[in-house]
Amino acid sequence: MKYILRSYGLTKKYGTRLIVEDVNLAVEPGDIYGFLGQNGAGKTTVFRMLLGLVKPLRGTIEWFDEKPTTATFSRIGSLIETPGFYPNLTVHEHLDIHRRMCGVTDIHTINEHLKLVGMEGMGNQKVGKLSLGTKQRLGIARALLHRPDCLILDEPVNGLDPKGIRDIRELLLELRNKRSMTILISSHILGEIGQMVNRIGIIHGGKMIEQLDYAELQRRTRTYAEIRVNDDGRATWLLEQQLHIRDYTVWEKGCIRIYEQLEDTGMINKALQEGGVIVNEISLCSESLEDHFLKLTGGDQKC
Ligand SMILES: Nc1ncnc2c1ncn2[C@@H]1O[C@H](COP(=O)(O)OP(=O)(O)OP(=O)(O)O)[C@@H](O)[C@H]1O
Ligand SMILES: [Mg+2]
Repeated sequence: MKYILRSYGLTKKYGTRLIVEDVNLAVEPGDIYGFLGQNGAGKTTVFRMLLGLVKPLRGTIEWFDEKPTTATFSRIGSLIETPGFYPNLTVHEHLDIHRRMCGVTDIHTINEHLKLVGMEGMGNQKVGKLSLGTKQRLGIARALLHRPDCLILDEPVNGLDPKGIRDIRELLLELRNKRSMTILISSHILGEIGQMVNRIGIIHGGKMIEQLDYAELQRRTRTYAEIRVNDDGRATWLLEQQLHIRDYTVWEKGCIRIYEQLEDTGMINKALQEGGVIVNEISLCSESLEDHFLKLTGGDQKC
């Protein structure tokens, strides 16, 4: 099997609004694929289309190199948005309902999966009393119960504390390594999923703006000199005219990031000072992946 999942030109409209436009996804076996986008970017809508829960306006989807049939969806486990639970039912009762719905005959699978997600011995607890992180883990246990080949998790770490995020990261890596599962996971914060994914698709305004290996994304983040000046208009004029520097951005008022000629920042300082610009600070920094993501997605809408 070459691909677990491919989508071609996936497009969705609600009313007259284009919500998802021409999304081409390519997920290979063993990928932990991070689907990244700010709130409202279209992540959940894409996942719903992939699962056959929402009909696309246009485009096609292939699962396991074939056109999906009803049987295809039994090979996929999913957790979309906040999982719906009955507060008065116990953890075990929830999983048992799902087990029977999926036609899984082995009752021991419930305890096996509770153990897998770190909820051993919690079967008798009422779901209404569980913390958010534990509910997310229960949602993952439910999605895994029928031993799918691929797992789709929509923002499973949203609202979790750092330990909760680490636990989920370790669980997903274990699933990939021990069960050879392929996992699609969405998030609106790159830092939350960066350490667990090997491939990233970035969606913005319903369009896929990047799809690349995580290692490639890391390579793209660059070193720069950040200078703080009293007059960025004059400073950029001097950078261009005196030093022929073109690769820079005015990051915010009075703050310029320069990406070239970094071997001699003293020269930049001198040229600016001599040109009448007061340089308050000059430092060498590396762009974080989060900055890079924000730049790609417009940069103005902090998550
Ligand atoms: N059933 C619907 N009817 C009309 N508009 C919808 C519907 N579902 C989603 N939308 C709109 O589509 C856009 C994308 O929504 P979607 O939930 O896919 O985004 P998202 O990337 O998952 O966002 P979030 O990070 O907040 O979960 C939003 O503007 C949303 O309001
Ligand atoms: Mg969503």
